[in-house]
Amino acid sequence: MTDFKRTLITSALPYANGPVHIGHLAGVYVPADIYARYLRLKGEEVLFIGGSDEHGVPITLKARNAGITPQDVVDKYHAMIKDSFQRLGISFDVYSRTSAPIHYETASQFFRNLYDGGKFVEKTTAQYFDEETGQFLADRYIVGTCPKCGFEKAYGDQCESCGTSLSPTELITPRSMLSGNTPVLKETKHWYLPLDQYEPWLREWILEGHKEWKSNVYGQCKSWIDSGLQPRAVTRDLDWGVPVPLDEAQGKVLYVWFDAPIGYISATRELTPEWEKWWKERDTRMLHFIGKDNIVFHCIIFPAMLKAEGSYNLPDNVPANEFLNLEGDKISTSRNWAVWLHEYLEEFPGKEDVLKYVLTANAPETKDNDFTWKDFQTRNNSELVAILGNFVNRALVLTEKYFEATVPAAGAFTENDRQTLETLSVLKGEIEKSLNSFRFREALKNGMDMARLGNKYLADEEPWKVIKSDQERVKTILYVSLQVTANLTIALEPFLPFSMEKLRGFLNTGRLGWDQ
Ligand code: 2FM
Ligand code: ZN
Repeated sequence: MTDFKRTLITSALPYANGPVHIGHLAGVYVPADIYARYLRLKGEEVLFIGGSDEHGVPITLKARNAGITPQDVVDKYHAMIKDSFQRLGISFDVYSRTSAPIHYETASQFFRNLYDGGKFVEKTTAQYFDEETGQFLADRYIVGTCPKCGFEKAYGDQCESCGTSLSPTELITPRSMLSGNTPVLKETKHWYLPLDQYEPWLREWILEGHKEWKSNVYGQCKSWIDSGLQPRAVTRDLDWGVPVPLDEAQGKVLYVWFDAPIGYISATRELTPEWEKWWKERDTRMLHFIGKDNIVFHCIIFPAMLKAEGSYNLPDNVPANEFLNLEGDKISTSRNWAVWLHEYLEEFPGKEDVLKYVLTANAPETKDNDFTWKDFQTRNNSELVAILGNFVNRALVLTEKYFEATVPAAGAFTENDRQTLETLSVLKGEIEKSLNSFRFREALKNGMDMARLGNKYLADEEPWKVIKSDQERVKTILYVSLQVTANLTIALEPFLPFSMEKLRGFLNTGRLGWDQ
């Protein structure tokens, strides 16, 4: 971590068509937040970007079904998502939205730069059209049978059953989501990013140049690249989105996956006039925190857009997570099978850190994982309360009882004292190593090992017995215990920020840096 001066952390912009759930948190926002807090503690220059993704067909369909406008839909969910992130303590430096004027301007300009640079190919193709409603049927406006797995409700852009990415004309027996009718084919012109032309470069940049990326990320990139990249349309015949900034493109908008990642740029512009420093200076490192369903967009398509534009940095790493299931079943918004963040916050006030703890301890870093309420309870009771709470509580209560809540001066150290302090600094180094390589579960485990170390130390030293015969020795024991406690407030701050703030209040230490 030496050859860059600052880090730009982006976290996937959630669609503003529903609330955020634990799957989003475990996959993206909790690890991104831990990382941002860690870098801040280290005194590094960091920006943590978030915002709502407010375009895309699911939003217009939702609005249509509810008889309201797409803007009404996104206003409602943007406010809800933003508020619940804030209450959970996700420490964004900015939380923007893609219906903001600055985003329209940024995304239009980005498109224009590529257009003027001759980076697109224009193609007129036959696309499905609903004659009854007079609308082209992009993406999720069309359903049909998946040609790969036979699932009957596959969307025009993807089969949610087998995960295959599709184009509408591949669907067997397509139906319009608007009228239910069989659509007809009609010609329409669109702008395509010729990903095929970027294939040699992507191969070199990712497959040769980023072998350090997580194996799930690298593997997906490799299989996309190996199966041959096709030109991707970056425009759609829809009326909700950023209008294509060309006179000949009336009634067309930018494809949601073209404008959404540009949202990271717009959010940075919204935050600071120095936004170019974060996007264009070569000593800035960019990291995208995402879930595995977003890998192709952040590792292949968005980088190809940035490369085509030419003046932007590329991501340095994309630490994508796998999925979190709930009680053995896939989380599903449509089946209402999820733990919704806003509901959790209502039901468990003051337990924000507990949720973050459980989601990190069981994070789907290398494979899909399962969230269960039983595990939630066990981790709270037998880890947070029984290990961390118990140690900290004993260290503080004993200090208060024997030394009027002041840190006693240490006498000569015994071998056990020395070893305990030595292990403490080894653990801190381990946490640092794990965090630097995005292994958050392991980092948290090492953090909790600090508390285990403290418990073992107290159990070995038994200050409550020694106090009867040797008060001087107890001073040293509690000095060492308080060293462990102070280190915990630093090491666990990225994971349990509310609790560590409280603990710092008891210790009266104020905010410490990582290396103090
Ligand atoms: O998958 C999703 O939820 C998308 N809304 C993520 C967009 S990430 C970025 F590109 F904006
Ligand atoms: Zn399928």
